Amino acid sequence: MIPFLDLKALNKRFEGEFASALQRVLDSGWFVCGEELRAFEAEFALWCGVAHCIGVGNGLDALSLILKAYMHLGRLVPGDEVILPANTFIATALAVSEAGLVPVLADPLESSANLDPVAAAAAMSSRTRALLPVHLYGRLADMVALRELARQHGLLLIEDAAQAHGASLGGQRAGTWGDAAAFSFFPGKNLGALGDGGAVLTGDEQLAACVASLRNYGSQRKYHHEQRGVNSRLDELQAAFLRIKLRVLDADQDERNILAARYLSGIRNKHIVLPEVPVAGERHSWHLFVVRSAYRNALQAHLHEQGVATLVHYPIPIHRQQAYSCLAWPSLPVAERLAETVLSLPIYPGMKRVDRVIEACNSFNPDSDSCMGA
Ligand SMILES: Cc1ncc(COP(=O)(O)O)c(C=O)c1O
Repeated sequence: MIPFLDLKALNKRFEGEFASALQRVLDSGWFVCGEELRAFEAEFALWCGVAHCIGVGNGLDALSLILKAYMHLGRLVPGDEVILPANTFIATALAVSEAGLVPVLADPLESSANLDPVAAAAAMSSRTRALLPVHLYGRLADMVALRELARQHGLLLIEDAAQAHGASLGGQRAGTWGDAAAFSFFPGKNLGALGDGGAVLTGDEQLAACVASLRNYGSQRKYHHEQRGVNSRLDELQAAFLRIKLRVLDADQDERNILAARYLSGIRNKHIVLPEVPVAGERHSWHLFVVRSAYRNALQAHLHEQGVATLVHYPIPIHRQQAYSCLAWPSLPVAERLAETVLSLPIYPGMKRVDRVIEACNSFNPDSDSCMGA
């Protein structure tokens, strides 16, 4: 079986370096908010091209802490509306509701699966205060249009960059387009820890200081608590491991781009729609390689029979989730269509047998495959 993601092999590459990092942290006797975290924050901020990075417990907390910090700074108040795409991972919506704000869903563009700026504009009301696009699958949302929309209406622009480490347009990386950005270092992400992790990136010094305090019980000085914060810190070990993996992230991204190019040129099947080829000057981080098919379930069954593991990102849009069934939602046909048709193929550094996946895709025929149904 070709695995969807081989986390074991991906991390084995750093076995020796991880062991030295563990020893270094053990020898330091310091496990939370120490030198490793400070070094990782500086290195990741530099890599992205933004002034401040604050390491936190996970990607959901990164989003939540940005929103809560803006509330502390008086830029958001409870009940304010935040626009996000309907076809994202649940965390994007959870962060908004957890902060006492109102998630407002907009349809994505069918072509990119990213937030449609026109749909976002149509979803605005007098309570709208922020746009929260997601760089889904590792492709930048249309940040030029969204930034202009935010500017015209005085909205905050917050990037959910959990899937988009290193995605860029014109050399400008994810995490540097808006007022603030949230990253996840969940093990399966392009930059993945050996456990949970996340970060807030921002060019805004005041916001950075507020998030740094909020993640640490609302405290900047031991036992002095200016805010009611939380405990959400990226620990020393994870920071040390992430520093090692950050050094090869550019090379890993190159490999993902090579694998994606092979899929894009090799898969030829009228029942499979390929993702868009990046435009000139655009760099996709190819966190996921997502095809679409009207016969998605049959295609998934066929690939499984051929020894290829796949996943669906995501089978249920936010407005169809039970957790959000209490809210009234507009019609979101594009998000629903995507949920029924998307299928993610394996893509990761070190992946072997790409040709087998391509062959398996090309041999798919819904008329002859036994397991039918979209
Ligand atoms: C788009 C998106 N936003 C937010 C998150 C939340 O990140 P984490 O799992 O680190 O909390 C994820 C991760 O799965 C994600 O894919």
